[in-house]
Amino acid sequence: MMLASKIQRRAFSATARDLSKVAVLGASGGIGQPLSLLMKLNPRVTDLALYDIRGGPGVAADLSHINTKSTVTGYDPTPTGLAAAVKGAEVVLIPAGVPRKPGMTRDDLFNTNASIVRDLAKAVAESAPEAKVLIISNPVNSTVPICAEVFKARGVYNPKTLFGVTTLDVVRASRFVSEVKKTDPADENITVVGGHSGVTIVPLFSQSKHPDLTSNADIVKRVQFGGDEVVQAKDGAGSATLSMAMAGARMAESVLRAVQGEKGVVEPAFVDSPIYKDQGIDFFSSKVELGPEGVAKIHPIGQVDANEQKLLDACLVDLKKNIEKGVSFVASNP
Ligand code: NAD
Ligand code: LMR
Repeated sequence: MMLASKIQRRAFSATARDLSKVAVLGASGGIGQPLSLLMKLNPRVTDLALYDIRGGPGVAADLSHINTKSTVTGYDPTPTGLAAAVKGAEVVLIPAGVPRKPGMTRDDLFNTNASIVRDLAKAVAESAPEAKVLIISNPVNSTVPICAEVFKARGVYNPKTLFGVTTLDVVRASRFVSEVKKTDPADENITVVGGHSGVTIVPLFSQSKHPDLTSNADIVKRVQFGGDEVVQAKDGAGSATLSMAMAGARMAESVLRAVQGEKGVVEPAFVDSPIYKDQGIDFFSSKVELGPEGVAKIHPIGQVDANEQKLLDACLVDLKKNIEKGVSFVASNP
């Protein structure tokens, strides 16, 4: 009898956890639309909330005709609309903000995107403080600290639930290596650590099946500056959207798998990390094991060779500045 009720309770809680609302903020943008489509196709998602300053309800109406079980609701840019969009969300994905044009760095987006992310973070802090927040908006190295500061100011900061999405860097690394080595990208699991811009992106080929690639400057550069290839090819019409939607959907799926009880789910992410805290660097991307609480374990960087150590040294210089820029932005523009 007792056993039966225990099993029933367990079954009930499993069902409750399986009810996963996902909110996308910036849902009608270049990333937002295909990302929302992939979320609509994901059977783990039960409710999809789409918010944008323009066009959220239209994208929602369109996706709502797809014959998967999840409900799709679009929200207008009113304070109550934003609050309702995020309320009860297990995962909040944030691809809101402007993309680069040729000649720009991600840091050049700071002036516009910092306040967009700050304001969205305020709404999440107020209406969904327990959600796992996945920040895509650039510059990720600064927007993640911005979100953390907003949460801290409201007493709801939980370092386990805040993620900068760096998945695209490992997606690219795996594809680029497979092209050079004529292999299946599905077999190329490349560790990429650091941050998400230029030299802060550090591929660790010495830990892969192809340690020779650490001395191949071309492929190292390609992983670090893969985003620029797309920006240049789009010639003023934006940056990576479709590959980013795939990468963001993979990250969200991994978070949901862990929330729903799967063990051993590991993804890279830019998180509040102990790895370089002694050097004043509070956020760093490395492999993160996910759990129901969000970040369950941060993997160490592991062994690196001399080439990679040089890349890491350069990464840390920029990363520190990018993080400090985000923190001081919120201090002077709360
Ligand atoms: P986009 O211009 O096509 O779409 C951005 C969307 O955000 C638009 O629909 C816009 O209306 C919306 N928006 C603007 N302000 C908003 C606000 N306050 N609230 C809600 N929505 C708002 O741009 P995109 O190509 O989708 O790129 C979005 C961001 O993602 C950029 O900052 C880009 O640099 C970044 N990005 C990051 C990665 C990564 O790997 N992390 C990869 C690609 C792009
Ligand atoms: C990317 O890596 O593709 C994104 O960060 C967008 C960009 O500006 O390159």
